[in-house]
Amino acid sequence: MKFLVINGPNINLLGLREPGIYGDVNYDSMLKIVADECSAMGIETEFYQSNHEGDLVDAIQNARGVFDGIVINPAAYTHTSVAILDALKAVAIPAAEVHISDVTKREDFRQISYAGMACCCHVIGKGIAGYGIAAKQLKEYIASH
Ligand code: DQA
Repeated sequence: MKFLVINGPNINLLGLREPGIYGDVNYDSMLKIVADECSAMGIETEFYQSNHEGDLVDAIQNARGVFDGIVINPAAYTHTSVAILDALKAVAIPAAEVHISDVTKREDFRQISYAGMACCCHVIGKGIAGYGIAAKQLKEYIASH
């Protein structure tokens, strides 16, 4: 089983960026942790991060026929991007939404998730552990569908 783990804008600054909200583990360390957690579950991972909406859409489109699942933290584009929602629907690859912080307890503008509307699993507010939890849930979802 092979998953593409996609991260949106500013996730590359993990560790530096508002550590009180997103923690102090940097992006590269997070990738290693998630890759190891997934590997222990028999899941192969590839990672993609971009600060650009269209590049994220391209990555989702290019996942067709290559990946069994997508774990995605669209970051700020979560709350604005119909293009990412449409791309996830178009490729119809099972997808899990991750947010490091608990967006449900933050500003009003973070209360809508467009990408989440195309996702079968949602892991919110569990820190970087959320990626591994989402991969586990996604694996179970795929096994039962
Ligand atoms: C985030 C939450 C978003 O609201 C924010 O814009 C991010 C990160 C999270 O992982 O908690 O960049 O997706």
